[in-house]
Amino acid sequence: MNDHSDYTVSIHYDRRLFRQDIAGSQAHAAMLAGQGIISQQDADDIIAGLDAVQDEIAGGTFPWDAGLEDLHMNIERRLTDLIGPAAGRLHTGRSRNDQIALDMRLYTREVIADTIAGLRGVQAALVGRAERYPATVMPGYTHLQRAQPVLFAHHMLAYFEMLQRDIGRFADCAERLDVMPLGSGALAGVPYPTDRRAVADALGFADISANSMDAVSDRDFLVEYHSAAAIAMMHVSRLAEEIVIWSSREFEFVRLANEFTTGSSIMPQKRNPDFAEIARGKTGRVYGHLMGILTVLKGLPLTYNRDLQEDKEGFFDTADTVLATLRVFADMLGGMELNAGRVEALAGESYMLATDLADYLVGKGVPFREAHGIMRRLCLYCETSGRGLSDLPIDAYRNFAPQFDADVYDITAAASVVARDNPGGTAPGRVADGLARARGILAEAGY
Ligand code: ARG
Repeated sequence: MNDHSDYTVSIHYDRRLFRQDIAGSQAHAAMLAGQGIISQQDADDIIAGLDAVQDEIAGGTFPWDAGLEDLHMNIERRLTDLIGPAAGRLHTGRSRNDQIALDMRLYTREVIADTIAGLRGVQAALVGRAERYPATVMPGYTHLQRAQPVLFAHHMLAYFEMLQRDIGRFADCAERLDVMPLGSGALAGVPYPTDRRAVADALGFADISANSMDAVSDRDFLVEYHSAAAIAMMHVSRLAEEIVIWSSREFEFVRLANEFTTGSSIMPQKRNPDFAEIARGKTGRVYGHLMGILTVLKGLPLTYNRDLQEDKEGFFDTADTVLATLRVFADMLGGMELNAGRVEALAGESYMLATDLADYLVGKGVPFREAHGIMRRLCLYCETSGRGLSDLPIDAYRNFAPQFDADVYDITAAASVVARDNPGGTAPGRVADGLARARGILAEAGY
């Protein structure tokens, strides 16, 4: 028979929770003394001993022992070595089940704060790019076909809005997880006169859990984090895809700082956008971990089941991935230069203005559907005769609709953008409003 004892061991990853675990234990010990469940002296020794344990772990001198399986057992054993039998009173009125539920909530709360800060960093970078090129007109796309001119700043602010919703999702998750589970014991509550509110206050929770059976088996907050993370990565991945396209020789819309590109080992001309590609790729594992946690949870009867230990590695990996990706994007966007001359030239290409010409005819009394048909025929004519709309003589225009006049040549990309002057549109004034809104949101958040 092989030795299978390492199969259930989690210490190599749950040790990340040591600060949260110790903070929870200290709050618990203080409450036990406050309620007269253990002596003040024992509580003082426990709290001081846990401080020493924390220093050892932070300093890298802690004697981790995989034979003790998890973080909780390792810390309790070490506390016993340091302070003696008083350590044995710490676990009064507590179970590892409510303990780990607490640790994960405390840790997730911090991860959410970091994630929101990371998203703010990317938002600030997007706003920075929008402000760097406030008036540059570029082609806007549908179906990845040039469609209508838009301001580059408008395009950047579209991502600002996506990330703003992401922040809302993470904030919602933080609000719902703001519930303190300690006092639930193994599953049924504890037979001591504990003060759960005092523990919640000490640890900065708004509320205490209402049902002990739910509290020890609930990992909804992790599912919510994973969901919000998957959506945020989906947004970042779309931006990554645009950066990959934009930095290609075919597009040449942007130039990334050297730091965010790599050369090919055989093709000396290459400037590959590897960071954007890796971010796009890493989105896959974040989606995967969402499916992982949902699947771990789906068949679990109440209450605690050891399967729940499998909530950690995927979560840590998602948190690490999201935070690293957001840091990369803030800096990569910060140094992304727009090839303004090229995007403006392409935005001015006459077919981009076909919709505006239809709207022009509408202005002369033609119903839109009819105007659209006229422009469709005109575009086909230009295409087959190899001409642009802007170098078509007025007589040619008039062959398609008598309403065309010389002022048809006044329609330019800049005029097209200016015309889209309704709330949320790409007119410079509206985009300036969007920028002001974005700046206001960042300022309110302290950025
Ligand atoms: N390592 C466990 C986890 O992560 C801690 C709780 C263990 N509880 C138990 N009754 N074995 O879920």
